[in-house]
Amino acid sequence: MVTAGPTYEDLDPVRFIGNRSSGRMGFAVAAAAAEAGAKVSLVSGPVGLATPAGVERRDVRSAIEMRDAVMQLVTGADLFFGVAAVADYRPQQAAGQKLKKGPPRQNLELVANPDIIAEVAALEDGPLTIGFAAETEQVEAHAREKLSVKGLDMIAANRVGREGSGFESEHNEILLLWAGGEKHLGRGSKHQLARLLVSAAADRLNEREAIETGSDQDPRPAPGH
Ligand code: PMT
Repeated sequence: MVTAGPTYEDLDPVRFIGNRSSGRMGFAVAAAAAEAGAKVSLVSGPVGLATPAGVERRDVRSAIEMRDAVMQLVTGADLFFGVAAVADYRPQQAAGQKLKKGPPRQNLELVANPDIIAEVAALEDGPLTIGFAAETEQVEAHAREKLSVKGLDMIAANRVGREGSGFESEHNEILLLWAGGEKHLGRGSKHQLARLLVSAAADRLNEREAIETGSDQDPRPAPGH
């Protein structure tokens, strides 16, 4: 399962709080997983991209809608990639009618959105959970903090806020982190990086399953035992 794109948090019928995610990175991950033979569900915020071949897509608008779709579809998933740039906050109330121009200063009351990937990571028998961290500075430190606070298995750290990587670009640079390890996936097209990421996550899933079933241990008793 993959989430992609931004979320839009409505202020009124014509305005919203959004972000610059194009959905390219998430759609590339969904495409790479489908190419690798997975059955893929993609939950996408508002983007202008075609659905990758073989991928089942659900479109949503807000973080609350994304959380509801994810929780409906996640049962039985082996891998969850949280690539969406989910708004951490939404307006406390969306006005039913277009807001009128008022005084020169206005305050906006925001309330926290659910943390979708943290909820997925906390599921009993849930999928191996891979987050993304979009950072403008101290990329590794901030990403490691999210890995730990959100209870993730892995996190793909990428730098945003400069040309040629992160939001909107066709390219990216990813440092993949997990507890006690890291792998620099390097710089490349989002499609190239998505293939590397899916392969690294599949390896991790196989390791986890081998540990759970005990098949990583040599089934033959050691001589003398
Ligand atoms: O879409 P593109 O233009 O191709 O750009 C790609 C990207 C920069 C959006 C992507 O590579 C990326 O970094 N996605 C994650 C962006 C983000 O919201 O990062 P974050 O550091 O705020 O969140 C950390 C993780 O928590 C992410 O996996 C996010 O999906 C998840 N999250 C965040 C908030 C929330 N309320 N719920 C969540 O699940």
